[in-house]
Amino acid sequence: MAMYCVLHLILVATCVMYSEVKAGGTCLRLENKILDNLLDMIVAIKSGSPNSGGNSYRPAFTATLSTSPVTVSGQFIPKFDNGILNRGNGYDPKTGKFTAPKSGLYQFSFTIMSNGGSDLHMGVAKNGKYLISLYATKTHGDTGTANPVLELKEGDTVYLIHGASATQSMAGHHFSNMSGYYIGE
Ligand SMILES: *[C@@H]1O[C@H](CO)[C@@H](O)[C@H](O)[C@H]1NC(C)=O
Repeated sequence: MAMYCVLHLILVATCVMYSEVKAGGTCLRLENKILDNLLDMIVAIKSGSPNSGGNSYRPAFTATLSTSPVTVSGQFIPKFDNGILNRGNGYDPKTGKFTAPKSGLYQFSFTIMSNGGSDLHMGVAKNGKYLISLYATKTHGDTGTANPVLELKEGDTVYLIHGASATQSMAGHHFSNMSGYYIGE
């Protein structure tokens, strides 16, 4: 609203300067139109729509694993199927991978929970490269977490990948999760 008032004052001042207020209200009608357009732009940028092109657009996602338990073996990539938030559509629940919609710094958070007496090894991978290990012990319901800040280029992928040769079990019911958001350039 403050922004609206400032714009209003500037436009009214411009009208007065050019002495057009007297000329049948043409300038005031024009002023309203310009204000409407500016407000639409501000709303689009503030709401962070991916199509707004505004600098404030921040990709962000949160997803949890609803299926439980999930048997993991080999180079398994868990698919956090329950998307709570997916601004910018960077996260794909079908593949379990986050693909950076724009370049910059990102903060991620991963939690895995072990199930039914099986321990659990996972790793954070970027573009197929194993970066960080997560571990949850055999105690049912133990968790392992990782909260890396990563520098990504547009199109880089980040995801969890199973990191042991043994077959293991992972708890879902929204206890295992993954989220991330764009911090800045
Ligand atoms: C993920 O789930 C764990 C519990 O298993 C919770 O402590 C953590 O806060 C959750 N992470 C997010 C980003 O919500």
